[in-house]
Amino acid sequence: MVEQAPAAPAAPPAPGAHKSLKEGGTVVPVREVLWGNDAGVRKFETAEEIPPEMRDLIMRLLVVQADTEFASIQQHRPWLDSAPTLEDRWIQARIVADEARHGLQACRILRDFGAEGQSRIDGLLRTQEGHHKLDAFNIPFDSWADVGAFTCLVDRVGVYQLRAFQECAYGPLARAMPLMLSEEQLHLNFGYNVLRRMVREGPAYCGNREEAQAAVDKWYPRSLDMFGHSHSRTSEMAIAWGIKRWTNEEARSRFIAEINPLLEGIGLNAPDPEWHRRIL
Ligand SMILES: [Fe+2]
Ligand SMILES: [Fe+2]
Repeated sequence: MVEQAPAAPAAPPAPGAHKSLKEGGTVVPVREVLWGNDAGVRKFETAEEIPPEMRDLIMRLLVVQADTEFASIQQHRPWLDSAPTLEDRWIQARIVADEARHGLQACRILRDFGAEGQSRIDGLLRTQEGHHKLDAFNIPFDSWADVGAFTCLVDRVGVYQLRAFQECAYGPLARAMPLMLSEEQLHLNFGYNVLRRMVREGPAYCGNREEAQAAVDKWYPRSLDMFGHSHSRTSEMAIAWGIKRWTNEEARSRFIAEINPLLEGIGLNAPDPEWHRRIL
């Protein structure tokens, strides 16, 4: 009599595998609107089916988004071959490539809006240094501390904007977010490390604590301004349409609660949130 071999035990799940990761597929995409007036309805998937007011808002948000990406390339450019270490030069090059890809991705979504989208892309490509929409992107990086504080603070605000879109009601915009967010994480960590090394290592790395603090003081108010006015009708509409997730003030408060302990942890002071602000 032939003895049957015992059935092979099922392969254990790969270490660290997420429970949504299934055989033959990945995480199930969320197809319905998750908040606002249309909660529970299928997401908008094409530019043609979006109501006119929402269409205009999405295009405006995309233009601001893309404008910040192209502007930051101009700001980083002088440091590509003058950052203090070899690794820092490589990360500068990496950040510039990432921001170019983010700008391209935002413009590809704008292209779906036909001639109107294309004319906005043309405008974006013509925008010169000093003429960008948000103040933080019209200020040059005068020192290496500026590069550190900008990426630690301003890129972090950008992440809050991207997170707000991550589950939004316009499918093509929502699906662009995960890769952008993962790339932005490198920029934030890099900026935080530059500031930390300036404080801890001083001239053995580059600069000193005073330079790092001066750069934080320069960029902190501009980064808080980026969230927009506290009582913005547009941001309330964007939430109702399922495009933005938080009011400007909610997002700004979350940012402050995240960044202040990080700065204090490396021996730097966070300025008062209303100090030198231009947009309240
Ligand atoms: Fe970016
Ligand atoms: Fe970035």
